[in-house]
Amino acid sequence: MHLFHYVGNALHCESVDLAAIARLHGTPTYVYSAASMEANYRRLATALPGLDVRVCYAMKANGSLAVARLFGNLGAGFDFVSGGEIRRAQAAGCDVTGSVFAGVGKTEAEVRHALEAGLYGFHVESEPELARLNHIAGLMGRKAPVAFRVNPDVDAGTHAKITTGRSENKFGVPLQFAEQAYEAASRFKHIEIRGVQIHIGSQITSVGPFAAAVEKVAPLAAQLRDRFGIQYFSLGGGVGVVYQEALASGAQAWWDARPVAERPLTPEAYGAAVAPVLRGLGLRILLEPGRFLVANAGVLLSRVEYLKRGHGRNFLIVDAGFNDLVRPAMYEAYHEIVPLARDASRPALTADIVGPICESGDTFAKERTLQQVGEGELLAFMSAGAYGFAMASRYNARPLAAEVMVRGTSFELVNARETYAQMFANEKLPSFL
Ligand SMILES: Cc1ncc(COP(=O)(O)O)c(C=O)c1O
Repeated sequence: MHLFHYVGNALHCESVDLAAIARLHGTPTYVYSAASMEANYRRLATALPGLDVRVCYAMKANGSLAVARLFGNLGAGFDFVSGGEIRRAQAAGCDVTGSVFAGVGKTEAEVRHALEAGLYGFHVESEPELARLNHIAGLMGRKAPVAFRVNPDVDAGTHAKITTGRSENKFGVPLQFAEQAYEAASRFKHIEIRGVQIHIGSQITSVGPFAAAVEKVAPLAAQLRDRFGIQYFSLGGGVGVVYQEALASGAQAWWDARPVAERPLTPEAYGAAVAPVLRGLGLRILLEPGRFLVANAGVLLSRVEYLKRGHGRNFLIVDAGFNDLVRPAMYEAYHEIVPLARDASRPALTADIVGPICESGDTFAKERTLQQVGEGELLAFMSAGAYGFAMASRYNARPLAAEVMVRGTSFELVNARETYAQMFANEKLPSFL
């Protein structure tokens, strides 16, 4: 769900004209809709009726302090994957004690910081990690609350780079060894066994893989509850969103009447598939959504630099590059690209939409048809709120983009565009040069 829509011919975020934001803050600029994020959160948080659900926002999708604060204000915990993310949430003034810490490579410093912060659970991926947790917790005179990430060997049917629940992936402890891992954990003095966790991948658009994974792991969860008194079962994240025709799909009222290229996996369908298996367990359910909460709630604004008429091909060259939004280059991902000023009287243009970076991979779309646009006109890359700015880099010495958050008729800059001085600030020339 999102609140990007045309008012007349001007694309708006909630009640704000996106062209006004581009005029004031320039491009490339990410724009987030607070109301869209809040609506997505509420919808998912209530999708498993009758269960004690805690949503832990997977901050890797969008680590902006403003976004963290928004979910913190709603009562969310966080799914962290680094000490930096824990610090980001703390810097945003969020309570992190209901949060969890995932990842295969937690460093000693990160473990120490997470223990000091009093996180709810460490999602452990290996026995050496467990030993490290036990050791550091012991030194600190504490117990580390843990859940093993169990790998259920389920094919999520998603892109190879974002599938995580197969036995050949680096993540988690294989289901058949999970019992042994928990028995081993029970012998550590400074470990408290608190839960069990799965995460099978990202951008999953059907309920089948979720239902299969939950069914596979539920008997283990029941056993762990009886044997060790665990409190929770975390289902991970992965609920997918609509990227194609994302603009049409945001308008809930006429959604079902429109033929669209992709159908969303609705929170309700997700809940209906997993809740019946979970109800008998009597455990708290943790959800770790990233993309579902923020993807469709953000856009990237960009300006057309040139229309280059090539040999049998047109290139629309824009001022955003894959350093700003890497998903098309990295995952062959689709983003709808629309003009901020719609004009039905103009002819259509078919072009490759590309950035300025010196690599052919800096291509957002091939042979995309949109209305004729030219130099200086503005475009929006839809559904760019997840894994957009969060994966941005300075490649080609391009400063990080600005970020703006909208609520209703207001908008505020929540991250200023990086300056060149900031870009070079930590560098120095060695004395021997
Ligand atoms: C452990 C874990 N939880 C949650 C997520 C969030 O996934 P998504 O953004 O698809 O919801 C990820 C993503 O990689 C993850 O690794």
